[in-house]
Amino acid sequence: MSLEKQNAARTAVDQIEDGMLVGLGTGSTAAFAISYLGEKVRSGLTISAIPTSEASKKQAQSEGIPLIDFETSPSIDLCIDGADEIDSELNMIKGGGGALLREKIVASSAKRYLIIIDSSKQVETLGTFPLPVEVIPFGWQVVSRKLKEMNASPELRKSGPQPFVTDEGNYILDCRFNSILEVEQLETELNRIPGVVENGLFVAMCDQMIMGKGDQVILKERR
Ligand code: A5P
Repeated sequence: MSLEKQNAARTAVDQIEDGMLVGLGTGSTAAFAISYLGEKVRSGLTISAIPTSEASKKQAQSEGIPLIDFETSPSIDLCIDGADEIDSELNMIKGGGGALLREKIVASSAKRYLIIIDSSKQVETLGTFPLPVEVIPFGWQVVSRKLKEMNASPELRKSGPQPFVTDEGNYILDCRFNSILEVEQLETELNRIPGVVENGLFVAMCDQMIMGKGDQVILKERR
């Protein structure tokens, strides 16, 4: 799986051109991309980047990748990120690493959004991977009850004995649904619950899937 992730990451980074503002994803596959991008920057590629998490920010800084924020430029040329599940329409579940909120903001500002995955991430129907829902800490129990009424089985993500806290200071409820058929509808419904900040359904956002499969790389554009 590691070779598949590396090949996908390298293929995506090869699409980065001089002068671009690049969105840097989060997770083990995105980490390969950040590392390849670091190599290219040190060999003379001139880009700047906006990371989607504190972890990716730290890695990018250690790679010598110049970072800016949205105050300098609100629009990203190319964003590269991983996914936890992706279906044939290129809709996704993201947030296994807890960075879904910043990831969605960065992706929504990108002219082109590339998703890099190993072959285990491709699914027929989303929902085997528990859907992360980011909530503010106040009243998370109320949100959890509402999610149960929507036939989900939410579980508060933990970091040891304590709740896991996102980069934005929120909690995550990992929600098991049997399978998610109406992705667009569910994404909207979840975000209408008071206390929900964002959820990990990324619908009609991915422009190109880059999947490592064995020693091959498979590309798929969104229709
Ligand atoms: C981070 O919050 C997630 O959205 C990641 O993009 C996702 O979990 C993929 O991670 P891996 O590349 O480690 O599988």
